[in-house]
Amino acid sequence: MSPISRRNLLYSGLALSASSVLARSAWGRTAALLTGDPDAASAEALAAVAPREQLLFDFGWKFRFGHGSDPARDLGFGYGQGDFAKTGEFEFSKTSFDDSSWRKLNLPHDWAVELPFVHDEAQNSHGFKPLGRRYPETSVAWYRRDFEIPATDQDRRISVEFDGAFRSVLIFVNGCFIGRNDNGYAPFRFDITDFLSYGAKNCIMARVDASFGDGWFYEGAGIYRHVWLTKTDALHLGKWDSTVRATVNGSSATLALGTVVENQGKQAESAKVRWQILDAGGKVVATAEAAPQSIDVDGCATFTANATLADPALWSVETPNLYSAIVTVETNGKVRDGERVVFGVRTVLFDAEKGFFLNGKSIKIQGTCNHQDHAGVGAALPDRLQWFRLAVLKEMGCNAVRTSHNMPTPEWVEGCDRMGLMMMCETRQMSSSPEGLAQLEVMVKRYRNSPAIILWSIGNEEGQMQEEMAEQGAKVGATMVRRVHELDPTRVVSAAVNGDNKQGVSDSFDVIGFNYNLQRPDEYHKLHPNRPIYGSETSSAISTRGEYTTSPLRNTVNAYDSVVPWGETAEEWWKFYGTREWAAGGFAWTGFDYRGEPTPYGWPSINSQFGIVDMCGFPKDTFYYYKAWWGTEPSLHLFPHWNFEGREGDTIPVWVYSNLDEVELFANGKSQGRQKVPHLGHVEWKVKYEPGFIEARGFKGGKLALTEKRETTGPAVSIRITADRNEINADGEDLAFLKVEVLDKEGRAVPTASNLIGFKISGQGALIGVGNGDPNCQESDKEPRRSLFNGLSQVILQSTKKPGEIHIEAAKEGWDGPELTPAKLVIKTRAVELRSSVLVS
Ligand code: GAL
Repeated sequence: MSPISRRNLLYSGLALSASSVLARSAWGRTAALLTGDPDAASAEALAAVAPREQLLFDFGWKFRFGHGSDPARDLGFGYGQGDFAKTGEFEFSKTSFDDSSWRKLNLPHDWAVELPFVHDEAQNSHGFKPLGRRYPETSVAWYRRDFEIPATDQDRRISVEFDGAFRSVLIFVNGCFIGRNDNGYAPFRFDITDFLSYGAKNCIMARVDASFGDGWFYEGAGIYRHVWLTKTDALHLGKWDSTVRATVNGSSATLALGTVVENQGKQAESAKVRWQILDAGGKVVATAEAAPQSIDVDGCATFTANATLADPALWSVETPNLYSAIVTVETNGKVRDGERVVFGVRTVLFDAEKGFFLNGKSIKIQGTCNHQDHAGVGAALPDRLQWFRLAVLKEMGCNAVRTSHNMPTPEWVEGCDRMGLMMMCETRQMSSSPEGLAQLEVMVKRYRNSPAIILWSIGNEEGQMQEEMAEQGAKVGATMVRRVHELDPTRVVSAAVNGDNKQGVSDSFDVIGFNYNLQRPDEYHKLHPNRPIYGSETSSAISTRGEYTTSPLRNTVNAYDSVVPWGETAEEWWKFYGTREWAAGGFAWTGFDYRGEPTPYGWPSINSQFGIVDMCGFPKDTFYYYKAWWGTEPSLHLFPHWNFEGREGDTIPVWVYSNLDEVELFANGKSQGRQKVPHLGHVEWKVKYEPGFIEARGFKGGKLALTEKRETTGPAVSIRITADRNEINADGEDLAFLKVEVLDKEGRAVPTASNLIGFKISGQGALIGVGNGDPNCQESDKEPRRSLFNGLSQVILQSTKKPGEIHIEAAKEGWDGPELTPAKLVIKTRAVELRSSVLVS
């Protein structure tokens, strides 16, 4: 069935198997993974590339809505014919224009998450947000920013660089139209050197139009990724032209180094390129140099060299060792431009018979697919949030992510490099059209030095290219694969195919990816024993965190590993890919819940239920299935909670996910029997509910190894807030994640609580979003209050740039429910060196 028609299915006949719990240990461990500066070498390294300035352009923007069809409400843009007739006449993008009534904000920013929900079935993919041509008032917006350019920049090249924006962007500088970008995910940049006033104030403006989409999931709206202002010498390195390709030979590695130098100056130059290779501690471990070349005005030259690394520290999932190459171009002994390229040394092999190997070691890809979308902030994820999300995934034993279905942000890739997660990096458009190839090229060039990336993907579930238009698909695929190989001869190419992979675009793939349909990989392997296979998208299991019954009235799905008709439970898919020697592993749909695709229900559900963790990153029970079978430590997880007031005498399924040998279950102290844990499975009992407690005791080699207990709690009497870290950076970017719970009088968290809690934040920080993981909750993501959902909510705080303290008070709101003792928390914000930014005037 095509993905589209399948998505529109009514889910009334869902075959749900038998029936979440708190974030507990994951929370603490997540915090631990996030501490420590992952970039210790950068200060010294960056000193060597000082001639180039890369300034963060995120702070101090002005914002207002425009209009998709009425020029009068769109700054008069498009009122008559002549807007683009003459250069320099866009008055709204001149410094003289009055924007004093516009809203002030910082980037990244997603305006869609701020909009109210609309009950419009056509908007269900976009999370019921009013975006699109039928919503002209909320689909177009303007961002505006004044900035100074010093007179000393006169001879430099200056570019504005967007890591991505959703979706159609027009850029203006000082009254001049500069250019456009028409997709939501690829980065784009413009050289604005000629349009700037030096020693003066300048203005940049972006009109962002989210009337069209790129996908079928929530995509946000606005400048939801970072913006940079880059200043270089007129003689400079080409954008994303520097490559470091490592080949391991026994106990050493050869580095093939390459770059391109462009001369935009007024005279020909004789330029030379040098490389310094630094280890993770910043120590120089190798150097190389390429012979000088003369470069004409407006010309460019390619430079290459080799270096050798003795005993390289390999990049792996357990030890993500990184190196840096400091590439500099110089003339007459003077460094004119430079950059730091982060890379790793590792070998990757997809073998048709033996599966996947990293550094010669056989491992399975234990992957998840994810969209970029989080509670409270939508698609606009600050860097810390990207790393937080990766840490949650890593905690459950996930060792790889697929960037479904688009090019990721640099921070997601960087996070994988630094935390040891492998990546299948996917472009949005499967097409060899100029636009499709441009998106693909920029992705490969941008990330080809990243050790995390093991596989490029040229798309997802393209029925036409796979089957209906197989003849064209074969050509489109061949062109795309060829282009990737040209730009990156070191990696293999694939795509996520929902089909038989027997024709069309699949002809040219190096590695064959199957979405769902577990009978297909076996058939294919028999027919094509020489083609490596992995699960490009699997599972689509669904569950609502902390719910143990499926109720179409409440739009909930029980947490006992339920699944949609086209999917596989966690156990089914992992038993398949985890046990076939030839299979490389796979990527489960999805790690995190995301807005849109509110499967298996519709309104009032506003987000998906596919996540192994919810929108906030709170684990659902299946998280612990993966932790048991993907992780390396002994684990045991007992569910459900034991708060079933009013269901006394009912039979409740009780499950345990564990990798121990045997588990014995007790209910109110009475044994319910001891069971062997099946490999890659779970154990379950049926227990008559009586308030009290259940306890699971797990045995390894006959010895008691782990126990877990669920107790019936009393009513909530107080609030507890816990932060992932009690001290964060005072840089205007860093975040603290608060977990909010209510406790009974014995201090036990109430797992079914739904109290509305309000927050007062003061001092050096602000609330940037709230969430609770409820797929049906339509409360605001931005207001300082949130109901708990099955005992939990999340508050995301961001520091200011001033060191000090953030004070948080949490208190019951509204008249309903019992009184609750409020909670207070203080988070310190410490002075740190700020990222170089464009100053806010
Ligand atoms: C797949 C698709 C995903 C998502 C998923 C839901 O077919 O690639 O984007 O829609 O189905 O099960």
